[in-house]
Amino acid sequence: MQNNFILQVENITKKFGNLVAVNNVSLNVVQGEIVGLIGPNGAGKTTLFNVISGLFPPERGRVIFKGKDVTRVVPHVICKMGMSRTFQVTRAFASMSVEDAIRVGAYNRHTNKETLEIVNEVIQFCDLGKLRRRKCADLGLAALRRVELARALATEPDLLLLDEAGAGLNPSELGNLMDILKEVNREKGITLFVVEHVMQMVMGLCQRIFVLDAGELIATGAPEEISQNPRVIEAYLGKRAIR
Ligand SMILES: Nc1ncnc2c1ncn2[C@@H]1O[C@H](COP(=O)(O)OP(=O)(O)OP(=O)(O)O)[C@@H](O)[C@H]1O
Ligand SMILES: [Mg+2]
Repeated sequence: MQNNFILQVENITKKFGNLVAVNNVSLNVVQGEIVGLIGPNGAGKTTLFNVISGLFPPERGRVIFKGKDVTRVVPHVICKMGMSRTFQVTRAFASMSVEDAIRVGAYNRHTNKETLEIVNEVIQFCDLGKLRRRKCADLGLAALRRVELARALATEPDLLLLDEAGAGLNPSELGNLMDILKEVNREKGITLFVVEHVMQMVMGLCQRIFVLDAGELIATGAPEEISQNPRVIEAYLGKRAIR
């Protein structure tokens, strides 16, 4: 990397037919940061994550990860390069046990022998020891979110994208998740990029926040700046009660 940007998003535009879901968005994420992406429903947050992680090729613009252009690189290759993500809806692993679901993540980057060690380590880290043999379908939301996080961590990422990991959690579950994420950042040195509606989590976790509205980046700043920005208040906070 020539600079300390782990991720550079340059003029990304993504359309669905006539709908411009992401409109000429540019942003940078510094190695080691925790940054947030907020905005009203349909603002384009998940779509931008899908472009960054290689799921959707954009119409315009470039995604640079660790100094390399990954704009048209497929997701599993981007994952091998050290970018992982969690998904907004966690249903994919319903029939699997917790440890098998996490092993799927580890296989992405490791051989059979190495996976057990990594799986054990992330199970500990995400406080899933007692649940490791349970079926994912039998877990509550908070535990499922930790499985999803553990699965992403098992790929040993340098950059982790989290899409609404805090949604639907009660305050104590949210505090627990935030503690784990702070440790992920501090102890493992993983850069975190979080999409989130839960303001407590965004404000408590992020050093910088990007705001999207109708596909456009309308503000970037520290949490206190963002919460006082008139354009943000009008576009986002004004329309929606802060949870
Ligand atoms: N695969 C798709 N095909 C067509 N339109 C899509 C697709 N995915 C998203 N969209 C549209 O693109 C726009 C942005 O959606 P997106 O899911 O990125 O928003 P979001 O900011 O993640 O919203 P939310 O906060 O509700 O998760 C919306 O108008 C949505 O309907
Ligand atoms: Mg979304």
